[in-house]
Amino acid sequence: MSKNQSENASFLLEDEEESVEFREPISIESKPLVLNIMEMHFSVGQIFWTMTSGKRINLFNSGDWIQKSYLNKFLKANKTLEIEPQINEHYCSLGLELFKSFVEAEEESDKAEIREGLIEWLAKGYWNAEEEVGMLDLAFVCAQTFYSFSEEEEDLLFESSTELFKRSSVIGSMLVCLGVVVGYLDTNLLRDLYHISFLFDCSLDEVTLSTNLISALENERNNGSEWEEALSESEKETFLNHSKNSASRASSLFSKRISNPGLVHFIEVHHEKINGKGFPLGLREGEISDIEGLIIFVNNRLPFRDLNFERGDASSLFKNLMERGAQLETVLTKRLKKIITNEFENRDSDHAKYLEISGV
Ligand SMILES: [Fe+2]
Repeated sequence: MSKNQSENASFLLEDEEESVEFREPISIESKPLVLNIMEMHFSVGQIFWTMTSGKRINLFNSGDWIQKSYLNKFLKANKTLEIEPQINEHYCSLGLELFKSFVEAEEESDKAEIREGLIEWLAKGYWNAEEEVGMLDLAFVCAQTFYSFSEEEEDLLFESSTELFKRSSVIGSMLVCLGVVVGYLDTNLLRDLYHISFLFDCSLDEVTLSTNLISALENERNNGSEWEEALSESEKETFLNHSKNSASRASSLFSKRISNPGLVHFIEVHHEKINGKGFPLGLREGEISDIEGLIIFVNNRLPFRDLNFERGDASSLFKNLMERGAQLETVLTKRLKKIITNEFENRDSDHAKYLEISGV
C-alpha cells in the first residue's frame, strides 16, 4: 500500500469510527406518584378537611385551580387536608416522566424519539381507550409540566377569567398534546401554547363575564348562531371585541410568560371557524396556519359548561372530537385531521420503539 493509500485508509477507519454512534436507548418508566397539594396547580380530586366533629369541609373539587393563598390559611392553622384522587395514577406517572424527558432533552433526535412515546401514550388513552383516562389526567400532567404563571400573574387571571380556569387548563393541555402529535418539538413554543390558552378571555372580568355571556359563548360554539338574542347591546360589543382585547391585554400584562411574542396574536383567532363564519375576522381554511387551526379546533370543540372532571370521562376524547359532531367540518382543517389521524392510527412501526423507551 502506498503512503497516500495508507493515509486514506486510516482516514476511512477514523471516519468509520466516528460515524458509529453507540447511544443508550432512552428508557422511561413510571414511578410511584407522590401527590403534594402545594405543588399542584389544579386539584386531582376532592380536597377536604375533616372537622373534629366529623363534618367534612370541601375545599376544592376535581380540576379546580388551587389558589395557594386560600390553601395556606388551612395549612397555617395546622389543619390536615386529605385528597381523594380521581386520576389514573399509573397513566399520569408515565405521562409525567415522558414529558419531563421531552422537556429536558437537548438533542432534536432524542426529542423526536420521546415524541413517539408521547403519541403512543396519548393513543392508549385518548384515541384507542385502552386505558381509562379523564380530562383531569391530561390537565394534571400538562399543568405539572408546563404551568409557570407567577403569583402576580395568577392574581391578574383571578380577576378576569376565573370562571374559565378549569376549561383553560384542558384547552391548554389539548393544544400542547396535539401540537406534539402534529410535530412541534420546541418546548418554548409548546409552553407558550399552554399559557396563551389561559389568556383567550383575559379581557373579560367577573362583571362582563356574565351567565348571559357564557351562554352566548356556548351557543356560538355549538351552532355558530342564535347567540345574540339573550345579550344586551353592550354585551354584544364585549362579546365581539373580546378576542382582540384579550390579545392586547395579554401582550401588555403577560409578555414575560410568552417567549414567542408573535403567538399572542393567535389569541385573536380562538373564536374563528374555517368557513368564514367565525369572529372577529371570518377566516377561511386556506388562511390559517396549523397552530391557528389547532386553536380553532380545540376551542370550538370543548364545551364551556359541564366540565365535571370525573374519572375516565375522556377515553377516546381526541378520536371522538375529530370524528363526530355536526359542526366538525367548520372547525377542523382537512390537513390537521389527516396528520393527527395518521399519527394515531398508523403506529405499528413505532410501537416497538415505544415499548423500548417506556419500559413496558
Ligand atoms: Fe373567548
